[in-house]
Amino acid sequence: MQKKTVRGGIVGAGFSARFHYEGLRRVYSANVDVKGVYALDRDQAGQYAQERGIDAYDSLEALIDDVDVVHCCVLVKGHEDIALAALERDKHVIVEKPLTGYLGDDTEEFHGDTFPKEDALRHGLASVERMLEAERKSKGRIFYAENWVYAPAIQKEREILEKTGAQILWMHGEEAHSGSHNPTYAYWKYSGGGVMIGKGCHPLTAALYLKRVEGRARDGKPILPKAVTARTHAITRLDNFRDEGHIRRDYYDIDDFAMMHVVFDDNTIASLFTSDIILGGVHNWLEIATNNHRTICNINPNDAMKVYNAEESNFADIYTVEKTGTKQGWTLMPPDEDWFTGYPQEINAFYHAAAYDEPVESDSRLGADTISTIYSAYVSAERNGAEVPVKAY
Ligand SMILES: NC(=O)c1ccc[n+]([C@@H]2O[C@H](COP(=O)([O-])OP(=O)(O)OC[C@H]3O[C@@H](n4cnc5c(N)ncnc54)[C@H](O)[C@@H]3O)[C@@H](O)[C@H]2O)c1
Repeated sequence: MQKKTVRGGIVGAGFSARFHYEGLRRVYSANVDVKGVYALDRDQAGQYAQERGIDAYDSLEALIDDVDVVHCCVLVKGHEDIALAALERDKHVIVEKPLTGYLGDDTEEFHGDTFPKEDALRHGLASVERMLEAERKSKGRIFYAENWVYAPAIQKEREILEKTGAQILWMHGEEAHSGSHNPTYAYWKYSGGGVMIGKGCHPLTAALYLKRVEGRARDGKPILPKAVTARTHAITRLDNFRDEGHIRRDYYDIDDFAMMHVVFDDNTIASLFTSDIILGGVHNWLEIATNNHRTICNINPNDAMKVYNAEESNFADIYTVEKTGTKQGWTLMPPDEDWFTGYPQEINAFYHAAAYDEPVESDSRLGADTISTIYSAYVSAERNGAEVPVKAY
C-alpha cells in the first residue's frame, strides 16, 4: 500500500520542538512533509528553520493553513489558544504535556504558594472543557504528547495486561532529577504549577493510562481516577537547605517535591512521586503490582548499556544520560535515550492516526484526567493531604 503523506508544522522552537523534529525524522507509518515552524521568538524560529532546511512562518494561522498536524511545543500558557486555533481550522494538534493549566490571575500579587488552589482546579478544568468542546466540533483531533504512554516498557506492559486480563492492584513510580533547565519553570504563572504538574504528569498519565487499558481489556470500559491525596513541598526554598551547588534552587513560588496517591473507581491505587531534588541523572520508573504479574518499567536509567569511563574529559562531546552530574566512572547509558523515553514512537503514532484516521492511545481525555487529578491534588496538598474527589473525563 502506498504510504499517505501528512504535512506537519511546529509551533515553538525550543527544547521540545527539537525532540519533536527528531521524532518526525523517524516516522515510518506515513510520509512526512515538515512545512515549517512558527514561534514568538522570531530569531529562535529563524535559526531552528535554517538548521533544518524548513520555512519560518510569520504567523500561526499561515502555518496552520499549510499543514495537517500542528505540533504545540510552547509553554503551557499557549496550549489552549494554539489547540483551539488548529481545531477551528479542522487540523489535528499534538499538544505537549501538560494539556493545559492555570497560570494565575495576571496580577502582581499572584503567588503560587498562597492563592486558593480551588481557583487552579476550577480554571484548569474550564480550559480542559473548552479544548474538549473545540475537539468535538472539529474534524481535527487532540493528540496528547505524553511520551511515557509510548515508552516501550509501558507499551509492553499494555500487551501483558491485555493478554492476561490482569488486575492492577497498586502502581508506584517517579519522575525526578536535579532541576529543569528552563528559567520560566521557576514561576507558577508560566508553568501552571510546580514539579507536581511539570514532571508528576509523566508517571501519573502512565498510571492513568494502564488502568484504562486494564478496564478496556477486561470489561470494555476504562477504569478512571476517583480521588487523590497529595503533599507538596519546597525543599530547596527551606531556610535550612544546605546548597552544595548540585541542585537547582532558584524557584520563585513552586513546589520541588510532590507525592500523589490516586484512588481509582475500582478502589485500587497508585502512589506517584516527583521531585527536582534527585542527583545521579533522571529517575523515571513505574512499578506495577497486579494479581498475576509484577512489572518494573525502568524508563531511565535502565541497564541496557553500562559504561565505565576512566577520565571525565574523554567523554566531553559524548551525550550520556539526561541530567547526569558526571560522566566519569560507571554510567547507565541508554544507547538510544529517545527510544526508551517514547519520543519517536509517540510522533509516529500520531502521524499514523492522522494518515489512517485511527484512534490514539494518548488522547485528549487522558490529558484531561491528568489535569483534573493534578489540580485536585493541589487542593489536597493545600489541605495537608485530605482526600479530594477527581472529576474524570
Ligand atoms: N515531554 C517531555 O519530556 C517534555 C520536555 C520538555 C518540555 N516539554 C513541554 O514542552 C512545552 C514547551 O517547553 P520547552 O521546554 O520546549 O520550552 P522552550 O522555552 O524551550 O521553548 C518554547 C518555545 O515556544 C515559543 N512560544 C512561547 N509561547 C508561544 C506562543 N504563544 N506562540 C508561539 N510560540 C510560542 C518560544 O518562542 C520558544 O520558541 C511545555 O509544555 C513543556 O511542558 C515536554
